[in-house]
Amino acid sequence: MEFGLELAAAVAAAGSEVWSTTMAKTQLGPSTIEAPPRTDNVIQIERVSKVYQTGDIQVHALRGLSLTIRRGEFVAVMGPSGSGKSTLMNIVGCLDRPTKGRYLLEGVDISTMSKAQLADIRNKRVGFVFQSFNLVPRTSAIENVELPLLYAGVPAGERHKRARGALEEVGLADRERNMPNQLSGGQQQRVALARALVNNPSIILADEPTGALDTRTSVEVMEIFQRLSREHGLTIIIVTHEPDIAAYAERMIHVRDGRIDSDEPVRERKEAAEVLLTLPSSSADKDDDEPLGNL
Ligand SMILES: Nc1ncnc2c1ncn2[C@@H]1O[C@H](COP(=O)(O)OP(=O)(O)OP(=O)(O)O)[C@@H](O)[C@H]1O
Ligand SMILES: [Mg+2]
Repeated sequence: MEFGLELAAAVAAAGSEVWSTTMAKTQLGPSTIEAPPRTDNVIQIERVSKVYQTGDIQVHALRGLSLTIRRGEFVAVMGPSGSGKSTLMNIVGCLDRPTKGRYLLEGVDISTMSKAQLADIRNKRVGFVFQSFNLVPRTSAIENVELPLLYAGVPAGERHKRARGALEEVGLADRERNMPNQLSGGQQQRVALARALVNNPSIILADEPTGALDTRTSVEVMEIFQRLSREHGLTIIIVTHEPDIAAYAERMIHVRDGRIDSDEPVRERKEAAEVLLTLPSSSADKDDDEPLGNL
C-alpha cells in the first residue's frame, strides 16, 4: 500500500490520530479509556455552547444545548443550514471541544481533555461516515477498511480478518479487491461504513450519509444502520435534510439556532428491509442477480 497524502487525508477523515495514543494513555491511564464506567447514557451533553471566533466575528454555533442519548439508540438530527448540526456532531465525535458546558461520553467527561486524549477516545469509540465517502482512490475496498487498524498498529493477519468481517457486515465480501472507482456510490458508502465499524466503536456518526445517494442505495444504507443498532447495540446518530431518511431512525431531533427545537420518537418508523422489497434492484446488483442468459 502506498503511503501518500491521500492516505493521510483518509485517516484524518476516519478520525484516527493514533500516533498520539501512547501519550493519551499515559495522561489518562489506560483503564479509564479501555473500561469506561457502565452507563446506559452513552452521550450526555450538558448546557454545551460552542463559539467560533473568526477575526473580530464571533459565531454562536451552539447555545447551551443539552442532550442525552442511550446505548443502541438510532437518532436523526435535522434542522436548517447553519443551525449547528455538524458542530454538534464534531463535539459528540470528539473532533472538537465545547467552549462551555460538559460532555460525557460513556460516563467519561471529555470536555476538558487534551487533543491527544480526544484523539485516543475518538479512535476507539467513534466511527465516522461522511456524505462524500472519503475513500482513498486507487486503494482496494479491503485496504480502505484496514486503514484505521493499520494506524492502530494491528498486525496484518488480524487486520485482514477484521476488515473482511466488516465488509461482510455491510454485504460487500465479494468486492474486497475492487477499487473505489469500480464500485457504485452505495457500495462506496458501504465500504466507508465498514471502515467506520472495523475498530468496534460504540458510536457511529454520519453527517448526511445519503446526501449523494439515490433512493434505493439510501435505503440500503439505512437497513445497515437499523441492523447495527438492533443487533449490535451500536448508538447511531445521523444528520439528514430528508424527512424520508429520518423516518428510519427511532428518535428525531430538530436543531435551530444552536438549540434543540424538538426531540421526539419517530411515529410510524419505516423498516428499511421491508421498503427494499418494494424498490427495484439497483443496476449494480442486477449484474449478479440476472445472468445474461436469462434475459
Ligand atoms: N470552523 C468554523 N469556524 C467559524 N464558524 C464556523 C465553523 N464551523 C461552523 N461555523 C459556523 O457555525 C454555525 C453552525 O455551523 P454548522 O456547520 O454546525 O451548521 P449545520 O447545521 O451543519 O449546517 P448545514 O446543514 O449547512 O451543514 C454556522 O453559522 C457556521 O458558519
Ligand atoms: Mg453540516
